[in-house]
Amino acid sequence: MLTNRIAIFRLVSILCCLPLWDTQAQDQDTSFQPGQIWLDTSGGPIQAHGGGVLVDGGTYYWYGEDRTDPAQTVVSCYSSKDLHHWTHQGKVYSPNDLPQELRARCFIERPKVIYNRKTNRYVLWAHLEQPGYHFSKALVATSTSPTGPFRFERAFRPISEDVGFKDDDPDQQKALGGTFRDMNLFVDDDEKAYVFYASEGNWTMYVVQLDDTYTAPQIPQEQGKTWARILVGRLREAPAPFKYKGRYYLITSGCTGWSPNAADWAVADNILGPYESRGNPCHGPEAALTFRSQSTYVLPLPNMPGCFVFMADRWNPRRLQDSAYIWLPLLIHDDGTVAIVWHDNWDLSVFERLER
Ligand code: DGJ
Repeated sequence: MLTNRIAIFRLVSILCCLPLWDTQAQDQDTSFQPGQIWLDTSGGPIQAHGGGVLVDGGTYYWYGEDRTDPAQTVVSCYSSKDLHHWTHQGKVYSPNDLPQELRARCFIERPKVIYNRKTNRYVLWAHLEQPGYHFSKALVATSTSPTGPFRFERAFRPISEDVGFKDDDPDQQKALGGTFRDMNLFVDDDEKAYVFYASEGNWTMYVVQLDDTYTAPQIPQEQGKTWARILVGRLREAPAPFKYKGRYYLITSGCTGWSPNAADWAVADNILGPYESRGNPCHGPEAALTFRSQSTYVLPLPNMPGCFVFMADRWNPRRLQDSAYIWLPLLIHDDGTVAIVWHDNWDLSVFERLER
């Protein structure tokens, strides 16, 4: 079935002179093939770049950037029961849903969604940006359904503390607070939620506890108690946090635009840090370039403790809509070290064979 869809997709691509992502596409019905074409259940290429996965009621929801229209990034949602077959649930948020004054110039990157049991709302956070990357704000929107529609809540910089910003800063951090760029969300076992984001012009990462609605920071804000500066001055982005056996792990990338660089994993006993950086977790060909990709999310596999899917984007800067997905097994060894191991082709049974 899927082989037929890939053949049709290739034929249409050739007839329409569209570049193929990678001509090595294989059948993805039962296995992950990082870097290959990945079609949804209706035969279209999955558009969920810079995304993340929500597990809700036995269903996986994959949210990400739909880059089909280079002029306007929208947030897409796909659903799946098995992580292989993804059904397009549509575009759940677009710049047209922003208030009038923001619509024209803004684009959306790295959307993530979490569920709030208290308010019974699905809460979307994303990086809201404008050409030049100086706008750098958080976008927050909510919905009563995982498949939207999401309604605008706010666009803002969560932390306004002046940590010594310059007066002539193009990011206007003295007046507006630390920039909000690459981001992720994390809900802890006690249901407290946190947003991780590259701030201070990407020089330092922030971790900020959210309030009970998950739509705003916990108030009153207190550095070290409700938020923290982590990986200070390290110039890291693309944060992907996860937890295992009471410790907090964070995968990040360096800041080299759309070009790949080496990933790093860091670990902390407290979610607010301090995080100790431990180096590159990747193993295999092109491990020094994160397999030519950049982290976006780490998905803990339900009922498989210590087994995670590392999700990353192999960006194609000239045609972002053709960027490919790199999904790989991530495991934590018995000594607490993190390993992401390259596989051309793999399924969840790989975790039974990987050495701890
Ligand atoms: C790297 C970031 O991780 C991406 O999300 C995007 O913002 C690019 N930089 C833009 O150059």
